[in-house]
Amino acid sequence: MCCLILALFVVLYVVYKVYEFHKGKTSIENKNNRYVLITGCDSGFGNALARLLDKQGVPVFAACLTEKGGTELKKHTSSRLRVLQLDVTDQKSIRNAVEFVKRHLPKSSGLWGLVNNAGLQVLHAPLEFQSHEAIEKCLKVNLLGSIDVTRSFLPFLRKAKGRMIYLSSDSAFIEWPCRAPYVISKFGIEALAECLRRELYLVGVTSHTIQPGPFKTRIVDPNEMKSALQKAFDEVDEEVQQFYGQQWFQKIKESFEGIPKIQYEDLSPVTNAICHALFSVMPKRRYRCGKICEYYFYPISLLPEWFNTWYWAMNPQPEAVTHN
Ligand SMILES: NC(=O)c1ccc[n+]([C@@H]2O[C@H](COP(=O)([O-])OP(=O)(O)OC[C@H]3O[C@@H](n4cnc5c(N)ncnc54)[C@H](OP(=O)(O)O)[C@@H]3O)[C@@H](O)[C@H]2O)c1
Repeated sequence: MCCLILALFVVLYVVYKVYEFHKGKTSIENKNNRYVLITGCDSGFGNALARLLDKQGVPVFAACLTEKGGTELKKHTSSRLRVLQLDVTDQKSIRNAVEFVKRHLPKSSGLWGLVNNAGLQVLHAPLEFQSHEAIEKCLKVNLLGSIDVTRSFLPFLRKAKGRMIYLSSDSAFIEWPCRAPYVISKFGIEALAECLRRELYLVGVTSHTIQPGPFKTRIVDPNEMKSALQKAFDEVDEEVQQFYGQQWFQKIKESFEGIPKIQYEDLSPVTNAICHALFSVMPKRRYRCGKICEYYFYPISLLPEWFNTWYWAMNPQPEAVTHN
């Protein structure tokens, strides 16, 4: 009897997945009057997405941190795309962005999509090397920024019964050593998206997270990582320097050189996932992007914690630990 019930569940699950797959391919209509705001469009995923949506005829509000980023983006897009300046950590800048969107949205329209994309990385080093200011900046941009932008644009999203997309990361299910502030910010983003899904369920606004693996954008630059680590190592207390040791320091710097080998140059798995979340009739709750993320990081994260702790333990070890 138990086997029969189990088999029934398996069959129902497979049928649902097949239905989801086929239904998910269908796109909602009238993309050209569904307004989408994207943060962090100066470079990377935000920039690529703004261009892609613009090509598809979607009216885009592309929020850039810098004027230069906006001017560059304008050169490659149609007059339909509107560039605005937005620093997600600055309340005045957010208020100005709200006014801008209000001014340019047709009276009867709301905001169909809000893509919370702006983000930055932290120094790749143990917590003792991270300054309070750097940790604060990471949380302000990656987490508080998304919270504040969401709060401010919710009235527009409610009006359209729109969708909120959050750029999360593989760091939302793998607690990488040497990246604690970033991991915390991405766990926070997942929590935010989950809470809002329930909070806004009856309102009709939905939320979706995107979990990219390693992609080649401006966010991870091995040369910058090396110089930032050098600076942090030089500035940290002598006791900490001795605990980690010169050999550890050299090895960890060398390990940065391997990063470009695992980064995908083609950003389309991420931009396509965001498009699906925005315009499919059956968007998913969560999208894992990049084979390494989907078929390596994620399955490993499902294994027991003792295995994950051992597998992802910081390598190389501090010299004081190796010599014990
Ligand atoms: N690339 C990856 O491997 C990867 C993996 C997982 C998750 N992600 C996530 O994907 C998102 C996009 O990153 P990306 O890879 O496309 O990197 P990116 O090229 O560095 O793009 C991030 C953008 O956010 C902007 N930004 C930084 N601080 C901001 C602020 N205070 N207000 C508004 N915008 C700000 C940056 O502007 P400036 O460049 O001018 O500072 C940049 O244009 C991030 O949330 C990141 O955590 C990326």
